[in-house]
Amino acid sequence: MSNLPLNNEFDRSPNNLDAFWMPFTWNRKYKKEPLMLTSAKGMHYTTIEGNQVLDGTAGLWCCNAGHACERITTAVQETIAKLDFAPTFQLGHPLAFELASRVTAMLDGYDHMFFCNSGSEAVDSALKIALAYHRARGEGQRTRLIGRERGYHGTGFGGISVGGIVKNRNVFGTLLAGVDHLPHTHNLEKQAYTKGQPEWGAHLADDLERICALHDPSTIAAVIVEPMAGSTGVLMPPKGYLEKLRAICDKHGILLIFDEVITGFGRLGTPFAVDKFGVKPDLITCAKGLTNGTIPMGGVICREGIYKAFEEAADNDPSSSIELFHGYTYSGHPVAAAAGLATLETYKEEGLFQRAQELEDYWGNAAHNLKGTRHVIDIRNLGLIGAIELESRPGEVGKRAYEAFRKCFEKGVLIRVTGDIIALSPPLIIEKGQIDQIFETIQNVLNDLD
Ligand SMILES: Cc1ncc(COP(=O)(O)O)c(C=O)c1O
Repeated sequence: MSNLPLNNEFDRSPNNLDAFWMPFTWNRKYKKEPLMLTSAKGMHYTTIEGNQVLDGTAGLWCCNAGHACERITTAVQETIAKLDFAPTFQLGHPLAFELASRVTAMLDGYDHMFFCNSGSEAVDSALKIALAYHRARGEGQRTRLIGRERGYHGTGFGGISVGGIVKNRNVFGTLLAGVDHLPHTHNLEKQAYTKGQPEWGAHLADDLERICALHDPSTIAAVIVEPMAGSTGVLMPPKGYLEKLRAICDKHGILLIFDEVITGFGRLGTPFAVDKFGVKPDLITCAKGLTNGTIPMGGVICREGIYKAFEEAADNDPSSSIELFHGYTYSGHPVAAAAGLATLETYKEEGLFQRAQELEDYWGNAAHNLKGTRHVIDIRNLGLIGAIELESRPGEVGKRAYEAFRKCFEKGVLIRVTGDIIALSPPLIIEKGQIDQIFETIQNVLNDLD
């Protein structure tokens, strides 16, 4: 007999879909034509009708090791039975310490990790750490935060303030004060059909100097960017762009934050984007692939010197105790930490980052083979990420790609769409035949689509 809650109701078609207000979903349409997943294994989901769907998106960019990895599910099962919850406020448990040590050890020059439960919380935590860091060093006037147009940093007020996706911002009031934005780096005229990083666009980082001149650089706390912008439709950093941002931040004492919620844990064929691009930010946010998507968890990884500034400030203040008044009930949750440790072990044992690197060319070529397909106006790739940009129907942005999503699903392939851009990010365990299946399915669907 199954131990699942609801006595296996789980596997039956629910007869009322009203109550769940679904996130980032066209609820009215979905509930008329629901797509329901009931199980997952390896590269595939199984639908409620029993159909297999090849996962071209690693869930939501999170199941990098594929679904239902035995090592991870066993670690979760055993830990939840042994230590269901333990606070990490003035108490601790070994798993969180171990995970922080292992993650920081993956990166050269980083020595502390702050835990939270999602990418959005990781971003808000990183912004707060940046502000508090400057204050701890006697530079409390550094309060401005700089994001980028088309940036996605989750949905907290901090994240949408520095983010640059209009619909995620425009109905939520005035957001955080003192935020400015760099221009985005996407330009089809200059960059269309580039394999890897575009040659054009590094100069766009110079806009940070303009922003510095406008506000006075001594008022700026941090610049946050996704090293590769994912949710806005996969925008690769132009060659030299991230290096320039780093140099300008260094010149003015501004912290640089890389939001690696998508790029962390092997997506680009390296542990982090930091390794792929050879540029070191001061803070790195991560989530998703940290636990292979199994248990919610996020984190902020700090470069050497960041935590030390808090320690020194506290040492110099006899009245101080807690160094940072920030945290979440579930920061470093034991079950999530166990999932994280088992996930890191899985990546290592199965050589998945290396595997992603080895597949990068095959993946990229398969993607670019769709050049000339109906509606396609650009194709981009890096690591095991791909994007196919479609021409929008006049006055109906996003409708064409949404139809492609539904049709691909019917044909057994899960893709993700943002506006009229198809974004692909399969689990790193993908086989070459499955890469072919994804792109052939998309090609067939696009050729039949209005
Ligand atoms: C770069 C980036 N930052 C933050 C987030 C937000 O993560 P979450 O949905 O876990 O809050 C995402 C989610 O896709 C992301 O891509």
